[in-house]
Amino acid sequence: MSRRKIAAGNWKMNTTFEDGMELARKISHASIPEDVEVILGIPYVYLKPAIDMLLHVPKVSVAAQNCHSKEKGAYTGEISTHMLSSISCPYVYIGHSERREYFNESSEELADKVDRAFAQKLDIVFCCGESLEIRKSGNQNEYVCRQIEESLFHLTKEQFRKLVIAYEPIWAIGTGETASPGQAQEMHNAIRSSFAAKYGDEVAATIPILYGGSVKSANAEEIFSQADVDGGLVGGASLDAEHFEKIINSFS
Ligand code: 13P
Repeated sequence: MSRRKIAAGNWKMNTTFEDGMELARKISHASIPEDVEVILGIPYVYLKPAIDMLLHVPKVSVAAQNCHSKEKGAYTGEISTHMLSSISCPYVYIGHSERREYFNESSEELADKVDRAFAQKLDIVFCCGESLEIRKSGNQNEYVCRQIEESLFHLTKEQFRKLVIAYEPIWAIGTGETASPGQAQEMHNAIRSSFAAKYGDEVAATIPILYGGSVKSANAEEIFSQADVDGGLVGGASLDAEHFEKIINSFS
């Protein structure tokens, strides 16, 4: 079964406008394998200029790192999916662990964000992942599958098959500690099995599941070679164009 291969970056709250545009420009000139898609998760305020810059660059697109769960209204400082679609932003990341942890985003709220994104025809990269405490308890598979169930299992089969999932164990984010390829594969397989149980084998086999958490050029190849790992969601290493280009070229 061949699935989409995706190398996604997440700049988080980093770069100035100038640095960010230079980074996007470098990625637009990077060598990208024929069958690999690149997504840059960039700060809201650079989205429109980056979309314009990348308009004619095949295989590179951008994502907003978040969106609001309501359609519109008195939510000072927030960004709606309608706003994102009005600048032709193709992707939105929903449910990043930093959003869940620092901004108290609940599974219910994330389900609403997912619905808002679908209403505006945005493509979603939905993030999930467990803390170190949960990993130590041994209940990580149940925990992550529950995160997915609570925010995504209300979707129709037609909606569900459009998703991209990113599994990012919190203990591996920005820590230099990576899940072993075996740990990543085990979780990705558990996630895919839960999709199969709910939506059937064919849908489950279609959905790209990315791994995130200290992905670097030194470990990307081994992680991406796992049967159920379809790419990466890369934080720190996506801020360096040469480094990220190596990751983009780490698929076998
Ligand atoms: P790092 O690659 O910096 O560990 O970040 C991972 C991440 O959170 C991507 O969304």
